[in-house]
Amino acid sequence: MKSDNKKQELKPSNQKQVIKETENKEYAELVVVKPVGYPFDFNLMDEDIEITNKQLFEEYAREQWLGLVVRENSHLFDQKIIPDYGFEIVTAKPNNTIISENTRIKIITDELDKISNESKVKSDIRLSDIVGQKNAKNKVKVITKYLEDPERFGPWAPKNVLFYGLPGTGKTMLVKALANELEVPLYLIKATSLIGDHVGDGASKIHDLFKKASENSPSIIFIDEIDAVALHRSFQSLRGDVSEIVNSLLTEMDGISDNKSVITIGATNNPGSLDYAVRSRFEEEIEFKLPDDDERLTIIENNLKTMPLEYDLDLNKLVKLTKGLSGRDIKEKILKTALHNTIANDGDIINMENIDYALKSTKIKNRDVKGMFE
Ligand SMILES: Nc1ncnc2c1ncn2[C@@H]1O[C@H](COP(=O)(O)OP(=O)(O)OP(=O)(O)O)[C@@H](O)[C@H]1O
Ligand SMILES: [Mg+2]
Repeated sequence: MKSDNKKQELKPSNQKQVIKETENKEYAELVVVKPVGYPFDFNLMDEDIEITNKQLFEEYAREQWLGLVVRENSHLFDQKIIPDYGFEIVTAKPNNTIISENTRIKIITDELDKISNESKVKSDIRLSDIVGQKNAKNKVKVITKYLEDPERFGPWAPKNVLFYGLPGTGKTMLVKALANELEVPLYLIKATSLIGDHVGDGASKIHDLFKKASENSPSIIFIDEIDAVALHRSFQSLRGDVSEIVNSLLTEMDGISDNKSVITIGATNNPGSLDYAVRSRFEEEIEFKLPDDDERLTIIENNLKTMPLEYDLDLNKLVKLTKGLSGRDIKEKILKTALHNTIANDGDIINMENIDYALKSTKIKNRDVKGMFE
């Protein structure tokens, strides 16, 4: 075993000596490593490894790295199965400590690559497909201009933006469109996926996410459903692991230096349940509103263009009937149900009766919705 932190040969037989040398150091509680490959290029070597069992890897790694000093951003090397294969230390808690029998060792494999690949998959959503949400589109315009010419903005660059509003009003759709139209990488993460089985998993994923985004800046980080992790302090005790995630989010948001063009967009249904410190870091909170009459008409018309059946509908009536519904409800609960109802009844044309069926079967009753929002 060896590491770039220690010069001497590190075999199990001389681990005592290593520990002795580092006697005054604390033991590490948690180490998160990431496979990075070999220190040199050699044709026969495959840089990618696949970890099939993370728990087995943990035991294997702990045994060979026992007694080594771990410092964030330095490396550990495998000496057994794939000698000299390097692992970057993404997180060491506490930093600059030594690995003991009780240190938890976690490996992040391709999860973040998946995130960035996912974001690179071009969706075909365009900004013009989003109906309404003028404020959000204006902000997107500013972000676009900024990314085209960051210098012009100096210290006035857009940094952190919060999208909030009722479900199904276009928040995720807008970010997907932004990624599609901008030539910058988008790092998309669903906050719920940060809550892992182990304390520290989420924090290290956030660290890695921000690191990647800042290495590849200009870039955009999108944290969807941010309320799932950045919970208001009073809820944090209920969800043990999240307070650590909140702290790491704060550290990372503050850590992005002014000259890095990294924009963080958070989305939530419920800004009131956000941790106050996280919330205060968003320079602007943009509300996504339910569509008004004209906007509902456009949403209905746009969706009807892709219908596989003909339709015979009173659009003005439909606009009235869908008052208080979101873009998602209109599409999924009304139009889709009406289409399926037509098909189920062997019909060829979607008519107002099918719409009526959809309105009745949807759990969101129009009258209730009116009562809630008017
Ligand atoms: N403003 C809009 N214009 C056009 N279509 C919309 C709009 N809002 C919602 N939709 C339709 O609803 C679907 C869901 O929207 P989206 O996923 O963006 O909602 P969201 O605001 O992210 O909701 P949640 O808060 O539940 O995550 C979209 O794919 C689209 O079909
Ligand atoms: Mg969403």
